[in-house]
Amino acid sequence: MVAATMADTAKLTLDGKEIELPIIVGTENEKAIDISSLRAKTGYITIDEGFKNTGSCTSSITFLNGEEGVLRYRGYAIEDLAEKAEFLEVAYLIIYGTLPTEEVYTKFKTDIRRHSIIHEDMKHFFNGFPSSGHPMSILSSMVCALSTYYPDSMDADPDDEMQITRLLSKIRTIVAFGYKKSIGHPVIYPRNDLSYCANFLHMMFAVPAEPYEPDPKVVKAINTLLILHADHEQNCSTATVRLVGSSGANLYAAVSAGILALWGPLHGGANQAVIEMLEEIQASGGDYKGFMEKVKDKSSGVRLMGFGHRVYKSYDPRAKVLKDMADDLLPYLKVNDPLLDIATQLEKIALEDPYFVERNLYPNVDFYSGIVYRALGLPIDMFTVMFALGRLPGWIGQWREMMKDPGKKIGRPRQVYTGENAREFVPLNKR
Ligand code: ACO
Repeated sequence: MVAATMADTAKLTLDGKEIELPIIVGTENEKAIDISSLRAKTGYITIDEGFKNTGSCTSSITFLNGEEGVLRYRGYAIEDLAEKAEFLEVAYLIIYGTLPTEEVYTKFKTDIRRHSIIHEDMKHFFNGFPSSGHPMSILSSMVCALSTYYPDSMDADPDDEMQITRLLSKIRTIVAFGYKKSIGHPVIYPRNDLSYCANFLHMMFAVPAEPYEPDPKVVKAINTLLILHADHEQNCSTATVRLVGSSGANLYAAVSAGILALWGPLHGGANQAVIEMLEEIQASGGDYKGFMEKVKDKSSGVRLMGFGHRVYKSYDPRAKVLKDMADDLLPYLKVNDPLLDIATQLEKIALEDPYFVERNLYPNVDFYSGIVYRALGLPIDMFTVMFALGRLPGWIGQWREMMKDPGKKIGRPRQVYTGENAREFVPLNKR
């Protein structure tokens, strides 16, 4: 791990007393004031609801410059990785820090192949969920349930590569089995002669007694989609994984919690919300202009889903790749999706309208991903599951980085209390 360096100090005057706080500088010259000693020195804490300005850790995994639209995993540009790498190569890079050599990569892939089935008993769990159950809830439950089959995972050992391999491999099978159950089809077992992404497509879309060969262009699209989602530094779900993991909870528990954090419509659930929004506009006769007026009227409570980002104040580089993918893939698949036209019109307005321009609101990763998933034949409630599948290496890498940090601490924010002062208990008959 590349250490952050200390440079200079910040001076803070509080109650007439001056104190010095260390300044930490990252490898991309990102600067932070280390306030960890502030309360001990002054009695004050800092408050920052939504962590808009609070760094929770140092990390050497992902660099993101939201002003300039830069995203790199371990120093490699997202655009390069999305075009040239395989998802498992990127997973290895994120989790273990370097691109694998050919020999290492072959072993990594072989291990992942060998662990693709889930315990037969786990199959029964799927029967217990209603077929209308949301797949994110099923995914989180099943990932957590994996820990019951692998008691060694309770050690939460970041060097236990077997747990990492198992999780990376079995999550695909869990997602696909859940989908098959939801549509009343028998589950399709993995075919380990296929690549990671092709095997996933096989389990999702093959049917018994019919030959199925995944389309290489679709395999490539899934590969790219997963890479684009693979990590995004300290977002809501990753911060959740770190927080849960900081108590010493095992990897499956921490990732299961991350999946639930991702589910919300302001985070990974936005890809589903985008399609629902576009369908609503379509149902209203395609009145996208009227919809944009509603978005700008704060009292309506309507947001342009798939737009805006806590960190990006320019075009999300992942959205660019996805827009190009949608333009290329839909004609190839002979899908003529009117929702893509509506999305393009919304984007056009938003990139020129002062409401969006002044607030730096640009398409994020979720704006076009749903259109691509739809074209690939995935049902809408599976979109966020696809995001989770892609984000898994990021969650694992961030959990591992934290667990290997000799200075790690349990995550435990403070608060400013605004409730009643001390008062006497009043017995029930006197209230
Ligand atoms: N539509 C309309 N207005 C918006 C939108 C939007 N999508 N996003 C932000 N704004 C406005 C806010 O109303 C606010 O306006 P104000 O300054 O006049 O009050 C301003 O822009 C800043 O917005 P905040 O909500 O303070 O920004 P924050 O960083 O807290 O939120 C978020 C970021 C949650 C992503 C937000 O932009 C949003 O809700 N977007 C839509 C949901 C979405 O696409 N989420 C996916 C994000 S990517 C991901 O998680 C994978």
